[in-house]
Amino acid sequence: MLDRYGRKIEYLRISVTQNCNLKCVYCNPDGSLCQENQEQNLSPGEIESITRAMTKVGIRKVRITGGEPLVRRDICEIISRISSIPKIEDISMTTNGINLLGMAEDLKKAGLQRLNISLDSLKEDKFRQITGGGDLKKTLDGIDRALELGMTPVKLNTVLIKGVNDDEIDDIIELARNRPIEVRFIELMPMGCFGEKNAEKIISNDVIIAARPQLEFLKRNDKAAPAVYYGIAGFAGKIGFISPMTHQFCSDCNRVRLTSDGRIRLCLGNNEEVDIRKALDLKQQDMGEIMRQIVYNKPMGHHFKEPFSSSRRMQMIGG
Ligand code: GTP
Ligand code: 5AD
Repeated sequence: MLDRYGRKIEYLRISVTQNCNLKCVYCNPDGSLCQENQEQNLSPGEIESITRAMTKVGIRKVRITGGEPLVRRDICEIISRISSIPKIEDISMTTNGINLLGMAEDLKKAGLQRLNISLDSLKEDKFRQITGGGDLKKTLDGIDRALELGMTPVKLNTVLIKGVNDDEIDDIIELARNRPIEVRFIELMPMGCFGEKNAEKIISNDVIIAARPQLEFLKRNDKAAPAVYYGIAGFAGKIGFISPMTHQFCSDCNRVRLTSDGRIRLCLGNNEEVDIRKALDLKQQDMGEIMRQIVYNKPMGHHFKEPFSSSRRMQMIGG
């Protein structure tokens, strides 16, 4: 369906938990959100029911996010329930990859098609520092496993922070030389106090691109996707840039979000949310009608350029 601004909404990002096994500096540095009340989380059956109702609004693509989705013990059940919905064509997940090596095969069997994996440094110490204790090897092993299993395209997400990991841009680009992966650089967003207080640590993707003439612009085949891609001659993979701070892409946005505690968040950078737990008792048809009204009213876009304080940290929304 089209929302009130004529955008075709077909992508639902489902945060299944706000719990995480890392404490990234820009997301959850004190780990305070990790003691969530598990009872507030939607159950696999509730997630399935909401997703089914959302297909009546035109949702065809689902991304599972967190927190860290792989800390939820029933994650495979959630995925298999979603993959049983006939109109859902694409099921993917965004993860930090720490638990991926041992779980990837079961996730694939459950119906997960592809993975986006966060990777902010290739140096063990730096990785530990940014993630509050994470083990780089585990994430790298997870990436390799995803590739082995053909859960592709595998996309890597690197949030660049000036003075912290911007010395690694070329090393991270190198990952795409022999691997068919998409390496993406994301501008730090003001979600959570680190981003809000550290505007001077944002690196404009335009600056990175301008300094690297080897990057060849690739025509966009999905206008609604946030990344703009470049190729490099001889490279198996691609380099992507997600630039919410310097190039707003809201007019092409095709997504809405479901939070782990049962709210529809209509835009990442806008605090409007609707609690839909009460609608869970309704018949699918009626639930679909409620979803239609909520989605129609999706706001125009995010507020990152004005002083913006998100009602939820990124960890509670899942990016
Ligand atoms: P696919 O296109 O399905 O591969 O997913 P994606 O790239 O949108 O998902 P991912 O979870 O990997 O997100 C990558 C980055 O894009 C994260 O930093 C997200 O926060 C950001 N992002 C995703 N959706 C939006 C959005 O609607 N608005 C903004 N500003 N950023 C977004
Ligand atoms: N700005 C930009 N990207 C962020 N992410 C988390 N917090 C921020 C932020 N403040 C990224 C994560 C993950 C993706 C879902 O969002 O690194 O890869």
